[in-house]
Amino acid sequence: MTNVLEQAATCPIHEINPMHPDILSCPAVMNKRLRDEAPVFQDPNSGIFFVSRYADVVAMARDPATFSSVMPGNSSRAVNSEDPKVIAIMEQGYPNVPTMLTQDPPLQRRYRKFVDGAFAPASLKALEPFIESTSHRLVDQFAAQGRCEFLNDFGVPLPLTVIASQIGTPLEDLPRLRAWTEAFIGNLSQQLDKEGVIKAAHSILEFQHYFVEKMDERRRNPQDDILSKVVNASIDGEKPLDNAECLSMLSQILVAGNETTAGSLTEGIWLLIQNPDQYELIKNDPSPEMISRLVEEVLRVSSPSSNMFRRATRDVELHGVTIPENSICFARFASANQDEAQFEDALTFNIMRDNLKDHVAFGKGIHHCLGAALARREMNGGFKVIFERLENFRLQENTPEPVFAPNALLHGLERLDITFDVK
Ligand code: HEM
Repeated sequence: MTNVLEQAATCPIHEINPMHPDILSCPAVMNKRLRDEAPVFQDPNSGIFFVSRYADVVAMARDPATFSSVMPGNSSRAVNSEDPKVIAIMEQGYPNVPTMLTQDPPLQRRYRKFVDGAFAPASLKALEPFIESTSHRLVDQFAAQGRCEFLNDFGVPLPLTVIASQIGTPLEDLPRLRAWTEAFIGNLSQQLDKEGVIKAAHSILEFQHYFVEKMDERRRNPQDDILSKVVNASIDGEKPLDNAECLSMLSQILVAGNETTAGSLTEGIWLLIQNPDQYELIKNDPSPEMISRLVEEVLRVSSPSSNMFRRATRDVELHGVTIPENSICFARFASANQDEAQFEDALTFNIMRDNLKDHVAFGKGIHHCLGAALARREMNGGFKVIFERLENFRLQENTPEPVFAPNALLHGLERLDITFDVK
């Protein structure tokens, strides 16, 4: 344990710095202290109010009138920086229009209508064979070596390939999609230095130009893909979405969908390595029911979308703390999923718990994840193939203990180097 983590376990609660990189990488100890001692905690540095208990997070997510998803500040650029170099780059692109994740009803509902159908469970059934064949192809690439770096060899490419096929981008462009996703995430992470922000701005501009060209193509020549649906749909007789709106939707689908699913798939394997008794359960019975149990418990414990922003639209009193109007809050989904008041023995990974589906890894209420059914399909299909082909997962010898990337919004391993036996 680092000094910062040791200190966070014992120091007076107001001295905790929740945005310290060591704590962002490993927030469980602080989360428990906040739930127990300060369920509404204002970070003295950022001013953000952390709401950490399950019941409060659920209530927040269900009350968009009080806790808005529209953030103040400059939404005219995709990268929010005052650096003139960054402003000059972003001026060559499209403004950042608040759509689904960053919008409130009724507009949020309007944007969701364009894509809800494409991500509904019924539309996704047909994807099952593609998810499984992609998983087999990925395993083929590393199985013979008896080892892999699971995040980059399986966790990332599976959801990326699936979403690229759904959006309608060619497979050879996957590395670019990955780079753009990382740029958006870096931009959100609050951990980039000046050069990093400039690099992210260039990358986001490239993303915009690439997709505007593709969108023009789909307007001329529609295909059976999400891009064509987003650019050509006219709902309730309204005019179709413009380029800036479409780009905002696409960036959300990419960012919200890729790293999260990759993070859960990868942490799933790490959790099985750390919990051999749970692995035995799956190894002895890799039925769809058991894999589905595993998926839900992995989602709860990994909670890759760990914190989401909300803005208080009025003064709110909660647990004796006043959250003043216009304050920024964090709805802390990962902390909610570790709340002992909701989940018995919450820090234990237990695929047999009876309230598996109570987790809020996909949020709650009107912003409930657009891609929840897709992510579940990818995880169920991905794990099914992994357990069919490989067994007895171990960490590679002489590699450091896996660590989580420091990020204020997303939680996931930086890499996972494993060995296994081929069945
Ligand atoms: C394990 C995988 C995933 C996790 C843990 C996850 C988590 C979440 C969470 C917690 C929210 C709610 C945010 C809030 O309340 O502010 C959300 C919303 C969203 N997710 Fe996911 N997500 C995952 C996969 C996906 C996928 C595959 C897509 C691709 C379509 C996606 C697209 C979205 C979008 C567009 C929203 C915003 C919906 C709205 O505000 O109406 N997510 N996700």
